[in-house]
Amino acid sequence: PPLDSLLNLDDIEAAATAQVSKKCWAYYYSASDDLHSKALNNHAYRSILLRPRVFVDVTRANTTTTLLGHPVSTPLYVSPAAMARLAHPDGEAGIARGISRFGAMQLVSHNASMTPEQIVADAPAGQLFGWQLYVQTNRAKSEAMLARIARMPDRYRCVVLTLDAPVPSKREHDERAAVEARLLVEAASPPPAEEGAVVKPDANAGVGKKLFFGTAADLTWETTLPWLAQHTTLPIVLKGIQTHEDAFLAARYARKNPGTVKAIILSNHGGRSLDTSPPAVHTLLEIRKYCPEVFDTIEVWVDGGVRRGTDIVKALCLGAKAVGVGRAALWGLGAGGWKGVDRTFEILQGEIETCMKMMGAKDLSELGPRFINTRAVERD
Ligand code: FNR
Repeated sequence: PPLDSLLNLDDIEAAATAQVSKKCWAYYYSASDDLHSKALNNHAYRSILLRPRVFVDVTRANTTTTLLGHPVSTPLYVSPAAMARLAHPDGEAGIARGISRFGAMQLVSHNASMTPEQIVADAPAGQLFGWQLYVQTNRAKSEAMLARIARMPDRYRCVVLTLDAPVPSKREHDERAAVEARLLVEAASPPPAEEGAVVKPDANAGVGKKLFFGTAADLTWETTLPWLAQHTTLPIVLKGIQTHEDAFLAARYARKNPGTVKAIILSNHGGRSLDTSPPAVHTLLEIRKYCPEVFDTIEVWVDGGVRRGTDIVKALCLGAKAVGVGRAALWGLGAGGWKGVDRTFEILQGEIETCMKMMGAKDLSELGPRFINTRAVERD
């Protein structure tokens, strides 16, 4: 279908589903165990009600803000998600091109299907990227990657350390698709070429498990952050914080070690790591209740389950500085390459602005708890 006939993120996902390979669909769509956290991520936003104010001149709504001190035109960013080329040959560079007119930040996955140099090569000057790290058991490999990223200081502005996937999870859609693909391969001769550049420790594993090969499970506050700070001068963003206790520890670490941790991302990995782990909304509410000073010490970003501009505005009202989308960008790519990503961001950015105007908010800085009613989600 023509991209301008796709009106919301469900349309984008449906268009991508019709076009990408079965294996790609299974990898992107999948989440762990019974997909409860994946569903809850979105449900939590729907449980929050908006409290719009009237009699405000909302001819314009300003969505500019700063991330880690860099100006951005929107609080919406792209979460790091592996293997974009499974969906479309434009890959991660296509995501960069698709979001470029929106002035948004892109976090690039450790397991991207293009090199970090290729992804940023054609982006206009000033477009912001961050690089996501899965620490490898062979630390020298991670150190070499950090050195490589440091050679592009006007491109990559932060290192995102993902903490919520210390071991592979059970993603049954992905595993089933792998088994089916193997049976097909066994039936065919010669075997079809493997899509994308995946590591292959176990020919029968799903994409997620294959990519996991080599990832370290022994990260700690005491050992990993000092090591990382030795090997990068970029601000560190901790991704996968899911409790107020860990948010508090991150803020305490940031206070004691200036120039290291600058932001946390409240995320349950799109429901892909530990099923029944909390949506970012719940963690935001916990932080507000038990340690609100975190919001003044470090930036708090969130991702997971965003389907609508109203979801994004609600997260900002709860104290988030930025909101990421993972699957939405990949589905956009699957629906129409870089133009599909552009369409996805056009939809979301339009919805953010409409929501702000309907609520009587002219500027992101006005957003706060007075605009939302969280009673239902607090009962959940
Ligand atoms: C991810 N995510 C992820 N996170 C990360 O830190 N490194 C990675 O390589 C990946 N890879 C990845 C692949 C795919 C296919 C998906 C869907 C997700 C998680 C991602 O950054 C983000 O937390 C979630 O995608 C957010 O949820 P939504 O927006 O997909 O609901």
